[in-house]
Amino acid sequence: MEGIKNTRYAVVTGANKGIGFEITKQLACEGVTVILTARDEKRGMEAAASLVNSGLPHVVFHRLDVRDPASTVALAEFVLIQFGRLDILVNNAGATGIIMDVGGLKALNIDPTTWLSGKAAKLVEGVSQQTSEKAEECLDTNYYGCKRVTESLIPLLKLSRSGGRIVNVSSLRGEFRRIPNEQIRNELGNIDTLTEEKLDGILQRFIQDFKQNAIEANGWSIMLPAYSISKATINGYTRILAQRYPEMCINCVHPGYVNTDLNWHTGTMTLEEGAKGPVMLALLPNGGPSGCYFDQTEMSDF
Ligand SMILES: NC(=O)c1ccc[n+]([C@@H]2O[C@H](COP(=O)([O-])OP(=O)(O)OC[C@H]3O[C@@H](n4cnc5c(N)ncnc54)[C@H](OP(=O)(O)O)[C@@H]3O)[C@@H](O)[C@H]2O)c1
Repeated sequence: MEGIKNTRYAVVTGANKGIGFEITKQLACEGVTVILTARDEKRGMEAAASLVNSGLPHVVFHRLDVRDPASTVALAEFVLIQFGRLDILVNNAGATGIIMDVGGLKALNIDPTTWLSGKAAKLVEGVSQQTSEKAEECLDTNYYGCKRVTESLIPLLKLSRSGGRIVNVSSLRGEFRRIPNEQIRNELGNIDTLTEEKLDGILQRFIQDFKQNAIEANGWSIMLPAYSISKATINGYTRILAQRYPEMCINCVHPGYVNTDLNWHTGTMTLEEGAKGPVMLALLPNGGPSGCYFDQTEMSDF
């Protein structure tokens, strides 16, 4: 009975592969019961089964498409009925907002330093396609998806005996200092005046500029523009949430440059290394940092 009382329950989004899968695995290895979620039932069930079969019985699958509000509500109902509360939420699901010609990208042989600095933006233009549909999908997955899932699960996190942990998997692309436009940078960076309405306004302005081909002219990041602003707004949202729920530890993290489908396998780090930061933040002790940004396992500037 005591064992059940002390069990921690976690939800990980986009966990059928990549960093999310590895976060699930590492949390399960720490004794956490993990609800591995994925938008595709087959991929998700196979991923969960592979962890259960490897000796981690406390991994259960539930479908979750972060773009579908009904899906987030159904997940919350499932968690409430099955477990009665939630201790950890890892918002990991993500999309790039760009269609890449993977063969073309490989042929460019861009070195990691050029990629990470953002200087590869012009190089990848010739081998990628950006449409407003893809940009909107990216914002809806990375920013609004995270918000949707969080809002559905907050009532369950409030029932956590350890105060609840939220980990928003962000990216160095979302660091405020990388945004060329000073006004946007300041708006995002000022936590005293930042609101969710302001974040909506920033994203609306972005989409307007995207449709008018004015991304560079109006000072948005040109390296993966939709992805970059979606992660910058996630960072802002993390700080707003942390202020609203002081009893929880709510942080965002750049997992590192990890070899996954998301970056067309250009990343240099392993999944194990990439999951370290998010897992550390998911397991923070009471009184741990909140409203902070981490570069892997180190606290860093937004
Ligand atoms: N890899 C890196 O170097 C790196 C660097 C910085 C930040 N990140 C962040 O790390 C997180 C994980 O990315 P990754 O590198 O592990 O990429 P990945 O292997 O491509 O995994 C992305 C995951 O998100 C899921 N997903 C996409 N849209 C979804 C939706 N609407 N609903 C539910 N799940 C959805 C994908 O599901 P499907 O399989 O169904 O598509 C997949 O499970 C992302 O937030 C990413 O931005 C990664």
